[in-house]
Amino acid sequence: MSEKESIVQSPSAEKKYEEELTFLSALPGNRPTGWALAPQQIVSFICGSEGEKLKRPNKSDVDAPRTLEITEKFVGNRALVERCVITLMGERGLMLVGEPGTAKSMLSELLSAAISGSSEMTVQGTAGTDESHLRYGWNYSALIAKGPHAEALIPSPILLAMRGGKIGRVEEITRCLPEIQDALVSILSERRLSVPELNTTEYAKPGFNLIGTANLRDKGVSEMSAALKRRFNFEHVLPISDFDQELSLVKSRTNTVLPKDLAKNVDLAVLETLVTLFRDLRNGVTNEGWAVEKPEAVMSTAEVVQVVAAVVRNHEHFPKKSAMDHVPGYLKGVVIKDDQSDLDRLLAYWDSTVKRRAENEPLWADLFAARNELTT
Ligand SMILES: Nc1ncnc2c1ncn2[C@@H]1O[C@H](COP(=O)(O)OP(=O)(O)OP(=O)(O)O)[C@@H](O)[C@H]1O
Ligand SMILES: [Mg+2]
Repeated sequence: MSEKESIVQSPSAEKKYEEELTFLSALPGNRPTGWALAPQQIVSFICGSEGEKLKRPNKSDVDAPRTLEITEKFVGNRALVERCVITLMGERGLMLVGEPGTAKSMLSELLSAAISGSSEMTVQGTAGTDESHLRYGWNYSALIAKGPHAEALIPSPILLAMRGGKIGRVEEITRCLPEIQDALVSILSERRLSVPELNTTEYAKPGFNLIGTANLRDKGVSEMSAALKRRFNFEHVLPISDFDQELSLVKSRTNTVLPKDLAKNVDLAVLETLVTLFRDLRNGVTNEGWAVEKPEAVMSTAEVVQVVAAVVRNHEHFPKKSAMDHVPGYLKGVVIKDDQSDLDRLLAYWDSTVKRRAENEPLWADLFAARNELTT
């Protein structure tokens, strides 16, 4: 395979962070049966080593550097990540719930990559998900030719996770119909799956568990059956609360999203302005304590990164007087999805907060001058 063919847009976490995972596997610690890393190393992998270079023992014969700083991947509460790891050691699954764009999927992928060395045993929940996606299906031509036999069975990613003692993931679980979701009840409580057609039972190996993610905007969490809810420990993932943490995440994500030559042109003041703007609209109040009417739309960190990247690209290819001139156009795309009254809220924000800041701050003055772009 040529180098170009082997490059993908978004490699899995276990590929992307292969060196860190190999390095962490050489550090001491008690690993639960079936796990690739000890709990402390999993938390270090996800939350980073806080600027410290970790050192691995001399005698370990892994192909990794002797010392390595572990990058911070999930920005947020370390205790939450610890609880996630502890939950996955127990008999319940882990359910990550929260607003869109709060890194639930990212956290679930990082946890499974660190625990199992693989994050690919994943089912994407949709209204069309059926039992075969969570249990097993059949290769019908093999079934017709020879009747039910083991080779005709097509295991779901969850069954593969059970067989391999790995973490299975169900993304957007609440988008599946409740009666389909309930296929997971017996898998989680009995840790086995019966296959009546073959008169056999598949048993989960040690290390198997499930991570579900659910988006609170989908409003489906309340419709999950009580039986299934009881088989998961719920963790709420919140938007990043600290300004500096969010700014530094947006900076580093922008660096990875944009090509190097563009990323180096990103002005920190532009980033600060956009992070401030998104936080005002998300929180409904500014740093100065001024009230802001919150739009219905999702104003997550992921959206900030998208807008920053689009503004920088646009300014590079079709420059205007100020980079800020491009902001209203992209902001409209984020804020005004299906609720036109969100445009009024945005205009009200412009006429209050943006206008007030424009008196003293040049970038906010540029933003205010571009107000027309919101209505055209
Ligand atoms: N706390 C955070 N730490 C690190 N990255 C974050 C954080 N919050 C948001 N992000 C960024 O946002 C991106 C989107 O996250 P992700 O897709 O995992 O969100 P999600 O919660 O699963 O959203 P959805 O509910 O829409 O599926 C991440 O890839 C990351 O770049
Ligand atoms: Mg997600």
